[in-house]
Amino acid sequence: MCGIVGYVGERAALPILLGSLQRIEYRGYDSCGILVQDNASGEVHLYKGLEPIASLIQNLDVSQFPGTIGIGHTRWATHGIPSKRNAHPHMDCKGEIAVVHNGIIENFQSLKDRFLSSCQFRSETDTEVIPHLIEKALMKAMKAHTHHKDFSPLSYSYSHSHSQSLTADEWLLKEAIRESLSYLAGSYAIIVAVKGFDGLIAARKESPLIIGLGDRENFIASDVPAVLEQTNRVIYLEEGDLAVVKKDRIYIENGAVEVTGRRGASMIPWTIEDAEKGGYEHFMLKEIHEEPKAIIDTLRGYLTEDGINLGIEIRSNIKILMVACGTSYYAALCGKYIIEHLAGIPVRVELASEFNYSDFVLGDDVTVIAITQSGETADTLTALKKAKRFGCRTVAITNVLGSSATRIADDTIYIRAGPEIGVAATKSFIAQLIILYLLGFYLAMKPEHEFEEWIEELKRMPQLAQMVLDDADAEIRQYARYLAGFEDVFFVGRGVNLPVAFEGALKLKEISYIHAEGYAAGELKHGPFALLTQDTPVVAILSGGSDGDSSIYEKTLGNIKEIKARGAPVIVITVKSDDEVEKYVDAVIHVPDTRDIFSPIPTTVALHLLAYWTARTRGCEIDKPRNLAKSVTVE
Ligand code: F6R
Repeated sequence: MCGIVGYVGERAALPILLGSLQRIEYRGYDSCGILVQDNASGEVHLYKGLEPIASLIQNLDVSQFPGTIGIGHTRWATHGIPSKRNAHPHMDCKGEIAVVHNGIIENFQSLKDRFLSSCQFRSETDTEVIPHLIEKALMKAMKAHTHHKDFSPLSYSYSHSHSQSLTADEWLLKEAIRESLSYLAGSYAIIVAVKGFDGLIAARKESPLIIGLGDRENFIASDVPAVLEQTNRVIYLEEGDLAVVKKDRIYIENGAVEVTGRRGASMIPWTIEDAEKGGYEHFMLKEIHEEPKAIIDTLRGYLTEDGINLGIEIRSNIKILMVACGTSYYAALCGKYIIEHLAGIPVRVELASEFNYSDFVLGDDVTVIAITQSGETADTLTALKKAKRFGCRTVAITNVLGSSATRIADDTIYIRAGPEIGVAATKSFIAQLIILYLLGFYLAMKPEHEFEEWIEELKRMPQLAQMVLDDADAEIRQYARYLAGFEDVFFVGRGVNLPVAFEGALKLKEISYIHAEGYAAGELKHGPFALLTQDTPVVAILSGGSDGDSSIYEKTLGNIKEIKARGAPVIVITVKSDDEVEKYVDAVIHVPDTRDIFSPIPTTVALHLLAYWTARTRGCEIDKPRNLAKSVTVE
């Protein structure tokens, strides 16, 4: 969710680091920081700020930041608001070990409490435990090998080397970092700079990290675009890799085994613009492909071995009102089905724009949950303020730390989808659903074991989303080419998949400019049937396939037959095990089987792909549809 960069070479590090950071600023930015090390003078120069990188490029000067080694960070806050204090790099107590980090350390609080209570923490971040852990591990290692009492990195002598490729100093340092990393639960890509050390150490677990290869210089970054201006020769570090990177030498190990020779360099054929999109044609497609990762990151931290911990207390005997707009409103509607199904608590859902200027009456016993990806949607913010005037407790579910919604609401639950650049919400919708499942389990207040199987199934959602991306994409493209020839499309569904049908229609209309309407499958006969012809295809979501209510399946199948009888072409989305429906319809998109309540996850991935490929066939401006904006900050 953050961008990290490192440089070690013979040129001034500052302009290279800032240039690299600017290249990945598009990934989301709320603050940044750089550290440049001047090993000639032994000085370390640090800057943290909230201004855009462009203004740092204008205002920071190499004369104030001399040095040929450095690290940098653009932050997309997950723990602690965007502020100078929370900006990376984070340091150990003595200010000699600096770390930039992309990822989430799940157990940072328990590490602080158990091992690091004597350390002075300066930020609210999860990251800050890393330099403190390294400091401790290094002190321990030094004590074991020398009689130094005071910690001063690399100021010891250590007689025999443990590796052909590393000096004794490098070996000790890398061992200390490896030991520190072994305490971390969660995900990380990190770059570590240590005062007096003429290289950098990088490591990754579940977060990407690359090394760009130069001539007597090397670059480290979380993303390829960060280094492309300097080099197109790149080593992709693999899961569990730890690398010691010097200007003229690189050592890589995995576990305790050296793998340097096995990590070949790749030539990157992309332009910088291609690379920003990770090689995808559009941010939207990249973000659809990030849906499995958005699920993993959202589950992480909230679903722990000890159960579900959303970081807030909500009583189970409450009344819930959800307010939201657009795609987030459809997530809220799914949330109603989910919470009522799992917890048996009634949930009311209102469009924020309607709630604000109508005579709705709320008691102060209602908890109002505002769902907003950006945290800045004006209608939703007004709804939150109105709820507060009623004396209601307010909770924001959002993707953006420190956004206005988080400042207005009493409590916040973050969805952790990572920055979303395409105007159409995709991975943020999926991540919102994941929070709503967790909320449903949480509110059910049943002993964990009663939900064990359900929670195990929830954990399979990243895998199911990935299966749709891998297995269904080709057939979805084919049907998208077909849909692209029409001007009106209906989407129908029932139960928890009714809001998913709304979402499918919204996505199609906003990026392909095809008129699309989402309808309850049982409602078409009450009017819209008049519109059905061979020119109005219907995309039908067939719920209830795997374990669900078979009457929902039967009723929806009945509706599908009625639609077919009126001459409209029908494309059905159903589970793989369903071999019945294909007898009655024109095309079937198969998604993996799961419990019916979870079916919105694979189904949504399929619908997002369908909208994307249809718009692409029609040659539309996908990432920036006409007349739309990512954050709608007017009512
Ligand atoms: C559609 C879309 C919009 C947003 C809506 C609310 O793809 O992105 O409908 O969902 O503008 O935005 P947030 O969630 O930021 O409040």
